[in-house]
Amino acid sequence: MSTGNLHGVVNLDVAGATISRHLYGHFAEHLGRCIYEGFWVGEDSPIQNTAGVRDDVVQALKEISIPNLRWPGGCFADEYHWMNGVGPREERPSMVNTHWGDVVEDNSFGTHEFMQLCELLGAEPYVSGNVGSGTVAEMSDWVEYLTRSGDAPMSRLRREHGRTEPWKVPFWGIGNEAWGCGGNMTAEQYTQLASQFATYTRNHDGNELYRVAAGPNKDDYHWTETLMKSISALGGPVADRKHNGWQALSFHYYTHASDDWQHKGSATEFDAEEYHRTILNAWRIDEIVRGHARVMDAYDPEATVGLVCDEWGTWWDVEPGTNPGFLFQQNTLRDALVAGLHFDVFHANARRLVMANIAQTVNVLQAMVLTDGAKMVLTPTYHVFAMNAGHQDATSHPVQVVSSDARYRGEVGEYATLTTSVSSREGSALVSLTNLDASNGGTVRLDLRGRDWQVATAKILAAPSLQAHNTVQDPSAVAPVAFDGARREGDALVVDLPPHSFATVELTLG
Ligand code: AHR
Repeated sequence: MSTGNLHGVVNLDVAGATISRHLYGHFAEHLGRCIYEGFWVGEDSPIQNTAGVRDDVVQALKEISIPNLRWPGGCFADEYHWMNGVGPREERPSMVNTHWGDVVEDNSFGTHEFMQLCELLGAEPYVSGNVGSGTVAEMSDWVEYLTRSGDAPMSRLRREHGRTEPWKVPFWGIGNEAWGCGGNMTAEQYTQLASQFATYTRNHDGNELYRVAAGPNKDDYHWTETLMKSISALGGPVADRKHNGWQALSFHYYTHASDDWQHKGSATEFDAEEYHRTILNAWRIDEIVRGHARVMDAYDPEATVGLVCDEWGTWWDVEPGTNPGFLFQQNTLRDALVAGLHFDVFHANARRLVMANIAQTVNVLQAMVLTDGAKMVLTPTYHVFAMNAGHQDATSHPVQVVSSDARYRGEVGEYATLTTSVSSREGSALVSLTNLDASNGGTVRLDLRGRDWQVATAKILAAPSLQAHNTVQDPSAVAPVAFDGARREGDALVVDLPPHSFATVELTLG
């Protein structure tokens, strides 16, 4: 039964912002089983690998066109000293990973291993530098080590460690969560440090860094404003200062089912109320992205400074029996719907929002893949990334909502249950649709104007229950299948969505 209706208009001949492929970015921290076991098994592992990196995980991520990978943290980044992770592995000093499980990190996965992982994935590296416990010189040297050719101290050292040519590193984080685990600073303190660190992370030999300042937590607009004011205090157009400081600022936003950090709720066993709280919480991403963009617009109306959401996703209680510091959680259809909603918001804000990184790629938080020994499971969230891959670097076409009665109203609050976004490239367009209604179907009617079009193919990700998830025993409990709910009626695309479902429709454009 269809009870919610959304009617929108889309002008396919009017181009909105380009949806950067980097909105589909990823994040891998030295946390739990993300790096070790998840990506890295070592050359001697019986698990099939290339130079120590597991082949199945690489293949799965290549299939969703992973555009970038952020590393080594997270909180870990601000206690990571990169020099400990280069050179012969058996000689690398170890350290304690105080944030995540208090385990000993042997640094066997370091800079060279990370860069090789990126090469295997075909992903662009996004390195998070250490501001919290590191020095300006240390960060400066790391950039030189990675990106400089010729006879410089750090490029010599890199060559001694087996790599002759410098790498290309496009993205560089100036610390992480400086308001919290990255140093417990005020916005004013961090803003000073950000310019200082950014100044000495140099562009070597044509490698142009896109430096990302560690921005606010959630909706801390004061933090954003403090950073933006510091740029405007330099005078002159923002674009002219491209190489003098940082080029973007980041924020983090996680979705929970409750405000109680000690009881975030189970990933798989949740009731209707927890579901509604989750979706209400997930919708906050819309207000938060727009809020930061508004502050940035006041100082930088041309949007030359990027907004980056370099940690997002669901955060539940860890799976029973697993290390609380390892943040291992299952992933259900609910997680997939949260991802569908986020991407519609990201697409709608693509003018300012230039990058987003889900936390995290393997075995941690809202992962793409879960590994169990030699086995690997694709999560429902993975399938959303796969079905939405066609939006990467496509032209967005804003959906003008004419009317919608698709809303959940209940004791916990109210939220829109139907959300959609549209993009196009050359001869095709991609429409994504999410029905967040836990129990009712919904119909989306989009008047598609400005181009000839026809429905080519459609897919749907759904399951009998919101709690459905994939396991080693049942890896395809939630997997996309062909969908016959999309049709053309006159000039409108009409899509009937079952309860709690995510769908994509590909159109051929004339
Ligand atoms: O993704 C897990 C942690 O969440 C990151 O290390 C930190 O940046 C954030 O608080």
